[in-house]
Amino acid sequence: MAIEPFTIVIFGASGDLTRRKVIPALFRLWCEELLPKEVSIVGFARKDMTAEALCEAWHDPAFDELGTCDPVSRECCWEAFTKRVRYLQGHYDDAASFSKLREQVETNAAEAGLAPNCIFYLATPPSVFTPILENLAESGLARKGHPSPWSRVVIEKPFGRDLESARVLNLLAGRLFDEDQIYRIDHYLGKETVQNIFVLRFANGIFEHLWNQKYIDHVQITVAESDGVGHRAGYYDKSGALRDMVQNHLMHLLSLIAMEPPSSLDADAVRDEKVKVLRSLRRIPGDCADNGVIRGQYTAGDVAGRAEGNYLDAEGVAEKSATETFVAFGAMVDNWRWEGVPFYLRTGKCLPRRESEISIHFRPVPKVLFNADPDAPLEQNVLVIRVQPDEGIRLEVLGKVPGGKRIIKPMHLEFDYEHGFGQPSPEAYERLLLDVASGDATLFPRRDEVEAAWEFVQPVIQGCCETCREFVHPYPAGTWGPQAAADLLASSGRQWHLR
Ligand code: NDP
Ligand code: BG6
Repeated sequence: MAIEPFTIVIFGASGDLTRRKVIPALFRLWCEELLPKEVSIVGFARKDMTAEALCEAWHDPAFDELGTCDPVSRECCWEAFTKRVRYLQGHYDDAASFSKLREQVETNAAEAGLAPNCIFYLATPPSVFTPILENLAESGLARKGHPSPWSRVVIEKPFGRDLESARVLNLLAGRLFDEDQIYRIDHYLGKETVQNIFVLRFANGIFEHLWNQKYIDHVQITVAESDGVGHRAGYYDKSGALRDMVQNHLMHLLSLIAMEPPSSLDADAVRDEKVKVLRSLRRIPGDCADNGVIRGQYTAGDVAGRAEGNYLDAEGVAEKSATETFVAFGAMVDNWRWEGVPFYLRTGKCLPRRESEISIHFRPVPKVLFNADPDAPLEQNVLVIRVQPDEGIRLEVLGKVPGGKRIIKPMHLEFDYEHGFGQPSPEAYERLLLDVASGDATLFPRRDEVEAAWEFVQPVIQGCCETCREFVHPYPAGTWGPQAAADLLASSGRQWHLR
């Protein structure tokens, strides 16, 4: 379906996310002619500057890696792209700034002879989400019940810092706009490998028939980052891994792995099934002394040759902070399909590599024939979904080593996206921005989905005393987190697949 021309207004245009993610994604879509040529980009922020200065700040040497065209055409493309950019200095809580913005959007559209369709992208800290939403509605820039010209609002994460604040934000957004105008963004859902979970499961007979407690022993989800908190320490210290990664990214990965087949590919049918998984998650009771949730915090160390300082010494981190930079725990999905199958989740900063994977560990064959020796059990078959980097899929099976002896060893059936399909995967933000522009909300969490994820994560956060350091295990940067995380699996005779 052709995308109608639109204006995208980026609030927080001078910020880190806009520069590193939103603009490169828009630029690449533009270069590949996936956006209407009339698209208009309006940067909005408090800083006093010109559109030229803003574009200068956005121009990134990393654009050289933006694939498809040669550097000369890329520069031409950039020049043409920047001609589409306007800048408006204003305040997020100031009605007059929004009147000016409305004038600008309407003038642009009128000059081009187009309808003023708009995407409003909230790339600001969440502290100003409320005034922006209110001003968008009050100024008439984004209107409930007006499908044409359309207006869509993209809200960045974090969506609330707990269940209550997420509900308040949902209530406000729901009062001001229709649900189909609201796009809560979670960039993990835009990753190709994450979208492929759906296809892998529901387009391939061989997996779906085995996808249940009868054949699966357990599932592991690891999202490992090698970077520390860097310049986002101030934000991170008030969040921690449970809020920053688990409530959103990891919950989506889990629900895609565990969901039932939806009745159709319709956005609501898919999201209905994801919500059911989140609601089936067994609540984790107790506190961090006994709830099995392992929280860690990195200390100084060496991450693949890079010296990383102590988390506590990072600028913006509170003295004696008990914020977790690592978390690991087991979750149970209490439904027919997953009865008794643990899902082990783990994420952390300053781990040895940036590597994220989901591994599905199948039950072993009966303890006869090749698996008869109790002292040398056969390795389990594992289906590995490599989310990033080196996006791909690996099936770990066992085979006979050629020769007279009966030696059995693991062999790997590998699929690599880049080589398999002959092209690198697009950036998550590209796909998501294109979906907003075409009005497809399938990859955006719905209101009840966000709240259901909070309903599960919130008691875990509450159970972990957020201010006592006693239960936060230190781990040297460059290791796979605290020993307690390894013990979590070892207690049931298992071990982390990625190590
Ligand atoms: P920044 O801190 O860079 O802020 C973005 C812009 O918002 C700033 O350039 C500034 O523009 C304005 N701003 C900053 N602080 C305030 C404030 N207290 N009150 C009003 N305006 C302010 O944030 P990011 O770009 O890092 O993040 C933006 C959003 O995206 C956040 O919600 C964040 O959680 C989310 N996000 C960010 C990621 C990242 O990697 N950066 C990753 C995933 C999500 P000006 O002063 O000119 O108005
Ligand atoms: C963001 C988190 O949502 O995701 C960051 O706020 C984290 O802390 C980032 O680093 C990870 O994203 P990716 O795509 O690099 O895995």
